[in-house]
Parts: sequence; structure tokens; C-alpha cells
Amino acid sequence: MGLIRKIYIFCNIVMSVEGWAPKLPEEKEMTTNYSGMSLRKVPTLAPATITLDLSHNFLFQLQNSDFLSVSKLKALIASHNRIQQLDIKIFEFNKELRYLDLSHNRLKVVTWYSLTALRHLDLSFNDFETVPIGEEIGNMTQLETLGLSGAKIQKSDFQKIAHLYLNTVFFGLRSLSHYEEGSLPLLNTTKLHIILPMNIHFWVLLRDGLKTSRILQMTNIDGKIDVPGNDLLLIFQFVWHTSVEYFQIQEMTFGGQVYLDNSFDYTNTVMRTVRLEHVHLRVFSIPQDTIYLLFTRMDIENLTLSDAKMPHMLFPNSPKSFRYLNFANNILTDELFKNPIQLPYLNTLILKGNKLETLSLVSCFANHTALMYLDLSQNLLQHINDENCLWPETLVHMNLSSNKFADSVFRCLPRNIQILDLNYNNIQSVPKEITHLKSLRELNIAVNFLTDLPECSHLRKLSVLNIEMNLILSPSLEFFQSCQEVKTLNAGKNPFRCTCELRNFIQLEKYSKGMMVGWPDSYICEYPLNLKGTLLKDVYLSELSCNTALLIVTIVVLLLILMMPVAVCFLRFDVPWYFRMLGQLMQTWHRARKAAQEQPRRNIQFHAFISYSAHDSLWVKNELVPNLEKEDGSVLICLCERNFDPGKSITENIINCIEKSYKSIFVLSPNFVQSEWCHYELYCHENSDHIILLLLEPIPLYCIPTHFHRLKALLEKKAYLEWPKDRRKCGLFWANLRIAISANLTDIREMCELQTFTELSEESRGSAVSLIRTECV
Ligand SMILES: *[C@@H]1O[C@H](CO)[C@@H](O)[C@H](O)[C@H]1NC(C)=O
Ligand SMILES: *[C@@H]1O[C@H](CO)[C@@H](O)[C@H](O)[C@H]1NC(C)=O
Ligand SMILES: *[C@@H]1O[C@H](CO)[C@@H](O)[C@H](O)[C@H]1NC(C)=O
Ligand SMILES: *[C@@H]1O[C@H](CO)[C@@H](O)[C@H](O)[C@H]1NC(C)=O
Ligand SMILES: *[C@@H]1O[C@H](CO)[C@@H](O)[C@H](O)[C@H]1NC(C)=O
Ligand SMILES: *[C@@H]1O[C@H](CO)[C@@H](O)[C@H](O)[C@H]1NC(C)=O
Repeated sequence: MGLIRKIYIFCNIVMSVEGWAPKLPEEKEMTTNYSGMSLRKVPTLAPATITLDLSHNFLFQLQNSDFLSVSKLKALIASHNRIQQLDIKIFEFNKELRYLDLSHNRLKVVTWYSLTALRHLDLSFNDFETVPIGEEIGNMTQLETLGLSGAKIQKSDFQKIAHLYLNTVFFGLRSLSHYEEGSLPLLNTTKLHIILPMNIHFWVLLRDGLKTSRILQMTNIDGKIDVPGNDLLLIFQFVWHTSVEYFQIQEMTFGGQVYLDNSFDYTNTVMRTVRLEHVHLRVFSIPQDTIYLLFTRMDIENLTLSDAKMPHMLFPNSPKSFRYLNFANNILTDELFKNPIQLPYLNTLILKGNKLETLSLVSCFANHTALMYLDLSQNLLQHINDENCLWPETLVHMNLSSNKFADSVFRCLPRNIQILDLNYNNIQSVPKEITHLKSLRELNIAVNFLTDLPECSHLRKLSVLNIEMNLILSPSLEFFQSCQEVKTLNAGKNPFRCTCELRNFIQLEKYSKGMMVGWPDSYICEYPLNLKGTLLKDVYLSELSCNTALLIVTIVVLLLILMMPVAVCFLRFDVPWYFRMLGQLMQTWHRARKAAQEQPRRNIQFHAFISYSAHDSLWVKNELVPNLEKEDGSVLICLCERNFDPGKSITENIINCIEKSYKSIFVLSPNFVQSEWCHYELYCHENSDHIILLLLEPIPLYCIPTHFHRLKALLEKKAYLEWPKDRRKCGLFWANLRIAISANLTDIREMCELQTFTELSEESRGSAVSLIRTECV
């Protein structure tokens, strides 16, 4: 009784080789596939072939020469052909052959040869009279799976392999004319799978099968899926009293007349798990309540009744044993919870895929259990705010995905919940006042209508969060501050708006390598339109464009850097001097024009009178005069030593000269101020328009005697031309000076002319000037 025996009954499943056979060798590149090519004989093969598929062809025999070249062959699939007889010795030289599939042929005769490397041999669905077991199989000690067929099954055949420890023995029987009782139990195999036409030797095979292996699977070969309901009960009742602990029925419809007279004997069983999946109970002749109670009365640890279109379930008064109940994919409604039921040991309840509507009802039902896991996914569940929810303390894992829950669902959750799935609902936000979910570790709110990440100052333990496919444009960073424990975040497939607000989120991935599930492929910009479809990873939002303070600082720094050379140039090339000079140039030019329009003073003979200190006479003679007086003599200068009349006093001479000159130039230097200026201070008060001050060297204001008010005022006003130390600037200086003293002396000359000569030609005016000058002086 120590063995856990399992029995499966499958109907209408045609077993494929993959279902029970081990995997083919992995070396895919060495696979030669001639499947379904209408071949009549084996083609020439590449010597490197390791796996060879010749299935679904018209081969009627295999020969020694066919496989000589492929010495490395490990797997040969020759199923679904027309092979009638086979000498296994043809594989004599394929020493590595491990996998040989000859199922679905027309084999009647096999000549045996001991292939010691063979692990998988399939001879099911052939036309053997008796099960083809030769002495030689007994020597194939590597054999794990063995597929057989035969119209007669007898003990003597199995005795030859009774000593082999097999993993799976598979019978693919098209017909079975004779079965000698006690044959199957001779085999030593973990799993026994029998595919047979229904009802042929069924009971004896079931009995023997149960004696043979821990796991028995019986499958109906032809499409006959309706089993009389009474047969089902008989099978159940039979298995109920055997050593079977695990009983599974799949893909069956039970219908017709059932005589259920409470005679099912529920006592005396070791059964622990019953699974009925994809079964359809079409039993109308008895009260439905009897059907609902048929399975729950079994009161075993583990009951699954899924995909069975059950509209309702009933429980007996006080079932004690249920720990696991799975009623997935039926059509159960809230009715299920109308009668209070005590299921004190129930820890797993799966009600996925039904038509439940009220979460609070489920909670009241659950309060009478020890539920740890509750799957309510794919229902029509909602929670109305004021309904009372009572969950057991034990409940830690809930699946509420694919329902109609809104934000209010958070008010109806068990206190100790750790894993919560709320996929595919109508949630818009996680209410901030949710403070009771202190144990929540995993929260899945994917495919809802969230517009931001939840705040989790109350979800202290949250470490896995899935908010994929919501409506989050730019996740707020509050989340990352409040949810320090989060290790895994799936925020992909949201319509991200790739602006500066998203920058911190993008950077988060860099700091927390591997935290974001689906990065980078699921994180794509939706807005703005020019970035639509761009991966967040590839979006470049510079620190500068997003940080205003930094932007300002940068601009200021840049400006400073740009202005530095300008300032340097300014100082280096004395730009202010040029400006001042140009300004003066403009002024003098303007004044000159104005003066030209005015009536010229009579008796003017010189363009300029120059006064200077003896100290500066060198400069005056070598620089000033030569630069003003052009060779053509068109500029006339009055100089003390040249034009003063020794017979008169200095003051008289000066006054004379000033009066005859259009402008008076004073060459200012400390010396000049000390010695000469006294003659002019008074004069300047009245005729400042006619004065040009040339500053030869800087004169500190304190050097100027206090009574020279006029000079001080002029210097303070910067009303002077400054002699540049830099020779390059002289051009402008001279130009300025020349304009200042330029005057049309023609009128004056004409006047002189009138006094002395009556005729003078226009052309000879230059020479005449000197004449006039001598005359006029
Ligand atoms: C050979 O090809 C068929 C389909 O043409 C496929 O079903 C079969 O699995 C292939 N065999 C192998 C060994 O890959
Ligand atoms: C099986 O193997 C043993 C020893 O390896 C050998 O003596 C015996 O002849 C083999 N039997 C067959 C049928 O090949
Ligand atoms: C069956 O094989 C197992 C090893 O796989 C062995 O322990 C067991 O004793 C064998 N049973 C019989 C009845 O030979
Ligand atoms: C019940 O059966 C299911 C499915 O086979 C299995 O996952 C579960 O562990 C079983 N539970 C118990 C309590 O045996
Ligand atoms: C729910 O269970 C708790 C503790 O198990 C109990 O105190 C409470 O009365 C129960 N509520 C209902 C409605 O049964
Ligand atoms: C919840 O149920 C759905 C399907 O009903 C399933 O896909 C999902 O994996 C389940 N979630 C958890 C956490 O078990």
C-alpha cells in the first residue's frame, strides 16, 4: 500500500510519440528530414547525419545498404510507412543508434538483433500477431521506453523482458483478440500507457494495469467519447477500493441513464486526488443535486472538477478532508456561496473562469476556511464600497485578474496578503488611504487605467510591481522615494511622454541596472509626436535643456568667456581712444561745415596758429608742422619763431597771430601749462570755438595752477586731442586735426588779392598764396 498508484483515463487523445518518448538528440544541424516526401526507397544519405526522419512516406522495406554510410546515426524515425518486415541486424554498423521509431507500419515479422545502445524502441500500431519480443531485447540494458503492439498478449512474451527496469511501456493496440490475465504485471515499469479500442478487455486490463505500475494511463483510441454514466460510476467504485491514490479522467462525456441510488460506497479508500478535466456530465435522469454532491461527498484531500460546464456545486454537511479544490472554467455563480459551508482545512481554492460577481460573498465563504491561495481570475467580480469583507488571516496569495474591479477593490483585501494579481481590471489609481496592506510583496496591476505609479509609503514590503500597459505618461519620482524596497518594476508598454519630466525615470534604469523588466524594448515614447516610436533608451534629454538654473549659469559663463577676448582687444588696442577720436572727428567736421556756411572772419591768413612750450618744439617742428603743412602748401601755419614780429611784445604778437588764424592749436604739456598758458587763459574764455588743445602728454589735474579755471574745465571735459603713443593711431589723429583746421581760405585770399592785384588766374592760386601771404603779413 506504500505505492502511490495513479490512474489516468484519457479519451479521444491520439497519443503522439512526443507524448511519452524521450527527446531526440539535440544536434539539429545534423538532422536530415525526409518526412512526407512520398519516398519509396531510402535516398542516399549524408555521412554526418545524426538524426534521420523518414516518416510519412511509402517505404516498404529497409535494407542493410541504406544505413551503411551513416555510421554516426543516433536517431531514426521511420513511422507511418508501409514496412512489413524488418531485420534489425541491418543496423549492425550503426553502433550509436539510440532512438528507433517504427510505429504505424505494417510489421508482422521482426528478426531480432541486440542493439546495445538503444534506449527508445517503438513498435506500436503494427500488425503483429503476438507481441514481438525476442530474447535479444533482454540484452538491451539501456532500454528506457518500449512501444509494443500485438493482437494477442500472453505471459510467455513478457517473461523475456521481466528483468529489465523500464521507465515507460506503451501499448498502441489497433485490436486485441486475446489477453492472458497476469501478463502485464510481469513487466517492471514506472509508467504504463495503454491505448486500446474502448471496452475490449477493459476491466481486466485496468485491474492488471493497476498491479503493474505506479502510473497507469488508459486512452480510448477511436473517437467514441460517450461513456454510459453507469460505467463511470463502476470505474470510480472499482478504483475507489484499490490502492490508487491519484485518479484522473480527461476528455470524456458521460451521458445516458444513470441509476444513482446512494449506493456509492465512499468508505474504505486511500484515494487522495481525483481530477476530472474536460469532462461533460450529461446526466438528466436524476436530480441535479445528486450529481453536484457525487464528487464533494468523496471528501478527499484534492479534488479538481474543471472545464466541466458545472453550473453549481453542493457540499455535504461537514466535509473534513478538502485541502485543494479546483472548479476552474465552469459556470458557477454567486449561488455557490449562499449556504454557509465550513471547510476548516481548505488552503487552496481555484474558481478561475466562472461567473462570480460579488467579492464580499467570496470573502465570507473564505472566512470559514484556512485559505492561503485563492484564484478568482476571469470572473465578473466587483466590489461595492459599503459591503463588508471578511478574509481569513491565512490568506496570502490572491489572483483577481480579469475581473471588473475598480479602485474600491483595495478596500476588500485580506490583511496579510503578500501576492496580489489585479491584471486586466478597471483600476484608475491605488487609493492613498490603503494602509492595511503591510505584507504585500508582489503587486500586479498591469493592463488597467492607472495614470501614475502608486505611492507606497504604506506598502512597506513591496518588492515586485507590474504596471505594464496602463496610461502612464510620465511616472512620478515620488514612487521611487517611497518604494525603496522595489527590486523589480515592469512599467513597459505605457504611452510615455518623452519630455524633461521623464528624464529622471530614464536615468533610473542606469542607476538600478536590471530593475526594469522589459527594458529597453517595451519602453517606447508615445508623445511628443516627433519622438513617437523611439525607445526611451535612445531619447536624449540633456541636463542643460531640462535644468533651468544650470541653463542660466551656462549662458552667463559662455557670455563671460566670449566677452573676455573682446575686453582684451578693447584694452590692448585702446579702442576707447579710437571712439573718442572718431567722435571728435565727427564733431569737428560738423563744426567745420557749419563754420564754412557762416561769414568768414575777415583778415584771416592762416589755417592755424600753433603755440607750444620750448620743450616741445622738437615735436612741433618734426611731427606737427610737417604733418599739417602739405608739400603743396595748401595749409598755412603761423608759428612764433617764423611769423612773430620782433618789434612787438610777445602778447601783441600772439594776439596778432591768433586774430589772423582760423584756429589756435595749443600743444599742452606740463611745461606749456607752467610757462605759456597764462597768455591764453583769458582769451580762451571768449573764443573756445577757435581753440584746439593737443595733449602731448597726460597732465594730472593737480599740476594745473588753481586760477586756470578754463584750462581745467576743458581738460575735465576731455575737449582735447590726445597725441597717441602708438604710431599706428597717428593717421586718425592727423586726419582729425586736419579737418579741425580745414577752412576755405579762398575768400580771405580773394580779399587780399583785391587789395593788391587786380588779376589772378585760377590755376596759379597756389603760388599766389605765398605772394599774398608776404603781402598780408
Ligand atoms: C521533419 O519535418 C516535419 C514536418 O515536415 C516535422 O513534423 C518533423 O518534426 C521533422 N523531424 C525532425 C526530426 O525534425
Ligand atoms: C546476451 O548477452 C550475453 C552476454 O553479453 C550473451 O552471452 C548472450 O548470448 C546474449 N544473448 C543474445 C540473444 O544475444
Ligand atoms: C523493478 O525495478 C526496480 C528498479 O527500477 C527494482 O527496485 C524493483 O525491485 C523491480 N521490481 C521487480 C518486481 O522486479
Ligand atoms: C492537488 O493536486 C494538484 C494538481 O495535481 C497539486 O498541484 C497539489 O499539490 C495537490 N494538493 C494536495 C494538497 O495534494
Ligand atoms: C471570520 O473569522 C474570524 C476569525 O476566524 C471570526 O472572528 C469572525 O467572526 C468570522 N466572521 C464571520 C462572519 O464568520
Ligand atoms: C492569475 O491568473 C491568470 C490567468 O487566470 C494567470 O495568467 C496569472 O499568471 C495568475 N497570476 C498569478 C500571480 O498567479
